[in-house]
Amino acid sequence: MSRGIFVTGTDTGVGKTWISAGVMAALQAQGLTVLGMKPVASGCEQTPEGLRNDDALRLQQQGSHPVDYALLNPYAYAPPVAPHLAAEKAGERIALERIEGNYRALAAQADVVVVEGAGGWLVPLNERDTMADLARRLELEVILVVGLRLGCINHALLSAESIRAHGCTLKGWVANTLDLRMSKLPQNILSIQQRIGAPLLGVVPYQDGYSAAAVAELLHLGD
Ligand SMILES: Nc1ncnc2c1ncn2[C@@H]1O[C@H](COP(=O)(O)OP(=O)(O)O)[C@@H](O)[C@H]1O
Ligand SMILES: [Mg+2]
Repeated sequence: MSRGIFVTGTDTGVGKTWISAGVMAALQAQGLTVLGMKPVASGCEQTPEGLRNDDALRLQQQGSHPVDYALLNPYAYAPPVAPHLAAEKAGERIALERIEGNYRALAAQADVVVVEGAGGWLVPLNERDTMADLARRLELEVILVVGLRLGCINHALLSAESIRAHGCTLKGWVANTLDLRMSKLPQNILSIQQRIGAPLLGVVPYQDGYSAAAVAELLHLGD
């Protein structure tokens, strides 16, 4: 049976897309077929084919086989604002049912689907539902990307608590080095490790340029 992984983060811009592609590459290296999904993206470019988002394109490219863009990114908006506000401006309502339909279609074609959230764990999608509700509904195991910067211990622990409060399984967390100059980096990682109650799946150093394969080698996803 196909499995699903939801990649969330302590904030926007913490490395979810990098790590999602790395998770996909790590699973592919285990011989699994993997597809990516970015159900909701704001901050899209208008192209002749329609609205396109960099994250979604990255995950599409990392997929084990080609899939239609609209399948992996059903909700695409131009303004780089919160998803429910972008949807409202476009005169739409983001519906979990539609995302679930697309997810099931992708899951039918692969061993694993890696779903990247937008922003952090509790980002609203409409007047009622959040990203957390989506992860719960699709029964996705959650990987939390912690962007290592001042404040990350609190954000990591709050996110982990809320992931569990929503009935989801926190498969583990990834420490992503966003700022080389951050002081007490190892102590911050240890402080989270001692309190979060889920495995540290990898520590990703600060690096110029990106390779999914290089990130994959740093991750220990188990089976
Ligand atoms: N380990 C890292 N080293 C250097 N730059 C990073 C690292 N992780 C992320 N970044 C940079 O931070 C930015 C945000 O990363 P991204 O994966 O797009 O975050 P998110 O998906 O959470 O919004 C990108 O410009 C990326 O180049
Ligand atoms: Mg992203």
